[in-house]
Amino acid sequence: MLPVLRLVCRGRSFFFGAGGKVENVLASSAGRRGTPQRVLSMRKDYLEAAMETAQEAGKILREEFDRPAQITYKGDVDLVTQADKRSEEAIVTRLTRYFPEHSIAAEEGTGHEGGSEFRWHVDPLDGTTNFAHGYPCFSVSIALAQRGALLAAVVYNPFYDELFAAARGGGATMNGKRIFVSKVDTLATSLLCTGFPVHKRLANPNIHYYWDFTLRSHGVRRDGSAALDLASVAAGRFDGFWEFGLKPWDTAAGVLLIEEAGGKISDFAGQPYQLGGPVILATNGLIHEEAREVALDISKRDPAAPLRR
Ligand code: IPD
Ligand code: CA
Ligand code: CA
Repeated sequence: MLPVLRLVCRGRSFFFGAGGKVENVLASSAGRRGTPQRVLSMRKDYLEAAMETAQEAGKILREEFDRPAQITYKGDVDLVTQADKRSEEAIVTRLTRYFPEHSIAAEEGTGHEGGSEFRWHVDPLDGTTNFAHGYPCFSVSIALAQRGALLAAVVYNPFYDELFAAARGGGATMNGKRIFVSKVDTLATSLLCTGFPVHKRLANPNIHYYWDFTLRSHGVRRDGSAALDLASVAAGRFDGFWEFGLKPWDTAAGVLLIEEAGGKISDFAGQPYQLGGPVILATNGLIHEEAREVALDISKRDPAAPLRR
């Protein structure tokens, strides 16, 4: 329901909804003014909003998971279901109600540009192919950035009820408990994860990297939800992850989770990873340079010399 009247009291906004109910809106205009103290508490509010929103979307996914999937295709093997759409609608509606000025970049295209420097990156269902096949590895991914700097992040796996959350400077958690990256310090003893895109599959060079990394580690998993893969690196379940061509909504939340859990993220050249960049390498930090060297070696043989773009 859209607000009809907004009051601001002690830096918090209160909206009187059409039904007359007063809603405490979580710091919608935060960050533009404010002392460090104020910024800290506002960030917590952003995170609370993201957690609440991801849980609402997760409920929808859980409900839809028990029904026969209604699949349509965006590309050859690029699936979209009723669940992607319902989840996105719930997320965009709630975020817009809380933060009407913020921009929302959501995968299924129902987001909007706002007038502020805040942007939400939303993947309403990451792992659609898994979901459509009844494989319970999928998530909701929501992150907030201010002028490109990530402030708050949530990845939620509704099937296992695992909620990964992070606020910049506040650490990363899973279901409220602090999480950290693993302490595995050699590639040879690491467990890795990667993914393959659902579009332009023939142009994707990842099979070459998959081959090499598989032979040089304890193994490479391919779980089908990049957001969960990144959350799993943050939680120390995987020691490293890489993939080509991921979109900002796939990686934004996972990147902050890993940074706050003590890990490292770059591209293969060691440059900072930019949201939407052609390649991401995310590790526990300890195996980062070793993994990067392997990737660089492969790119010298040119497996699509990291996706020249
Ligand atoms: C996909 C998943 C998958 C990754 C693909 C993504 P979607 O997202 O994250 O793990 O390998 O590149 O497109 O389409 O399920 O939201
Ligand atoms: Ca995705
Ligand atoms: Ca998706």
